[in-house]
Amino acid sequence: MDKKALYALSYGVYTVTSWDNGRPTGCTANSAMQITSSPATIAVSINKGNYTNSVIDESGHFAICILAEDSDPIVIGRFGFMSGRDTDKFDGVPYTVRGAMPVPDAACAYICCKVVDKMQTSTHTVFLGEVTDAGVTRQGTPMTYAYYHNVIKGKTAKNAPTYIGD
Ligand SMILES: Cc1cc2nc3c(=O)[nH]c(=O)nc-3n(C[C@H](O)[C@H](O)[C@H](O)COP(=O)(O)O)c2cc1C
Repeated sequence: MDKKALYALSYGVYTVTSWDNGRPTGCTANSAMQITSSPATIAVSINKGNYTNSVIDESGHFAICILAEDSDPIVIGRFGFMSGRDTDKFDGVPYTVRGAMPVPDAACAYICCKVVDKMQTSTHTVFLGEVTDAGVTRQGTPMTYAYYHNVIKGKTAKNAPTYIGD
C-alpha cells in the first residue's frame, strides 16, 4: 500500500476551539468537513489524547475557525504542538467571542457547532456538529493543507489523523 496516496486528499487548516469551564482553548486541525447542508452539519476528527477532545466532549460545543494564508503561523504552532492541558493557549492570542465561541482574530471565518453525535475510532473521536452560527470575519484566502506544507513548510503533528510515521 502506498500511503502517499493519502496525501492526495485535500484539506484546510483550522483552529478548533471550545470552552474549558469558561477558559478558551482548542487545537489545530485539518480534519474538518461539511457532512450535510440542511441542517448544516460539520464533522471533525480529534485525537483521544488531545485535551481538546475532552473539552468538546464536556462542553458539547466547538467552533471551526478557518485560517487564512496570511494568518500568523505561530497560531498554528501554538495550537498544534502544545496542549491546553498545561498551557493557556489563548494567552497573547487576540480573539473575539463570536456565536458564543472563542474565535482567534487570525481566522478569516468561523463555524460554531453543537455536538449532535460522535463516532469512536481506535485513536480519534469524530464529532458531528450541527451549525449554530457562522460568519466571515475578514478578507483572506483560506489556507489549504497543501499551502501549509509547501509554502509555510509546516510539519504534521503526531496526533493529526494525516500523520504518517517513518
Ligand atoms: C497542521 C496540523 C493539523 C492537525 N490536525 C489535527 C486533527 O485534525 N485532529 C487532531 O486530533 N489533531 C490534529 N493536530 C494535532 C493537534 O493540534 C495537537 O495534538 C495539539 O497539541 C493538541 O492540543 P490539545 O492537547 O490542547 O488538544 C494537528 C496539528 C497540526 C500542526
